Amino acid sequence: MNKKIIVTGGAGYIGSHTVVELVAAGYEPVIIDDFRNSRSWIIDRIAELTGKSPLGYAVDCADEKEVLSVFRNHNDIAGVIHFAAYKAVGESVQKPTMYYQNNIGSLCTVLNAMKETGISNLVFSSSCTVYGQPDKPEVTENTLIQKANSPYGDTKIICERIVESVLASGQNIKGALLRYFNPIGAHPTSKLGELPNGIPNNLVPYITQTAAGLREQLVVNGNDYNTPDGTNIRDYIHVVDLAKAHVKAIEWLERQTKNCCEAFNLGTGKGSSVLEIIHNFEKVNGVKLNYKIGPRRAGDVEQIFANPSKAEKELGWKCQYSVADALKHSWDWEKTL
Ligand code: WQD
Repeated sequence: MNKKIIVTGGAGYIGSHTVVELVAAGYEPVIIDDFRNSRSWIIDRIAELTGKSPLGYAVDCADEKEVLSVFRNHNDIAGVIHFAAYKAVGESVQKPTMYYQNNIGSLCTVLNAMKETGISNLVFSSSCTVYGQPDKPEVTENTLIQKANSPYGDTKIICERIVESVLASGQNIKGALLRYFNPIGAHPTSKLGELPNGIPNNLVPYITQTAAGLREQLVVNGNDYNTPDGTNIRDYIHVVDLAKAHVKAIEWLERQTKNCCEAFNLGTGKGSSVLEIIHNFEKVNGVKLNYKIGPRRAGDVEQIFANPSKAEKELGWKCQYSVADALKHSWDWEKTL
């Protein structure tokens, strides 16, 4: 009997890619997702890729009663991967209470259900936004957690503290807090990828939609930063590499003999500027992108990239794909939509 893993937000961008990798690693995912940030046909795509239709519950992750009944339906759960949260930095500035209520409420619901059913392994979807604008661009897990630049980032800082507090309260918990850098790309088969709601907040989906003619022109948010070409630097990581890290984190949790709560940076360890991403995209896909330089975007961090050595050493995980691979896969995916 395969070990079951509850995956909240399992039909989402990173969640769906992670479900595919969980099946490949011999786990049986149980998805909790109300599809507010996804489409139901993503479940069919997962079945196409894995040959198995994952168990799924269309449930709001903040609904205590419903979530607890899902947990109680399955008595052989090896762990939980909690993705379900709102994640648009810009939107969080406009709608802060929606972000605090949903992102914090859903985590508390999951933690309470874990306590009620005696599940201790939790992988939490965190973010490099917890570092704010670091003093040095390369960050390790010991880099100071700064005041977040947005309510979204603040919910990630608060949620990490909630997991730590639950551990301190004596609840049996083994937590892995995965701090994603910038997830990009799509599944190499083009059967899964990013499905932004409305106008994309993030750079790469905006690039692919501009290349596809859905957007008139990409505006680069400022080129007067203190970086080699004046544009912001980020650590762009392929979504499949990120998905594989979640499986490694579950396996790491299963090896732990004591309660714990550990953070891991998930990035390539290399920074790319906005203009480098644009030129790389044009080169790898043989397309010309219509873009112009515009004003800075409020809340943007100037530059940040991961030191991923802790995840590489302790999780036995290393990125396999390059940024160029991710930019090719994102364009291949966009062309299927
Ligand atoms: C990257 C760069 C923009 C759009 C994201 C997620 C956040 C977290 C970290 C996971 C910035 C520039 C963008 C555009 C542009 N991920 N840009 N024109 O802000 O680093 O945050 O990754 O938790 O959830 O939001 O990513 O892709 O929005 O921006 O010039 O049309 O691209 O200014 O410099 P960001 P992003």
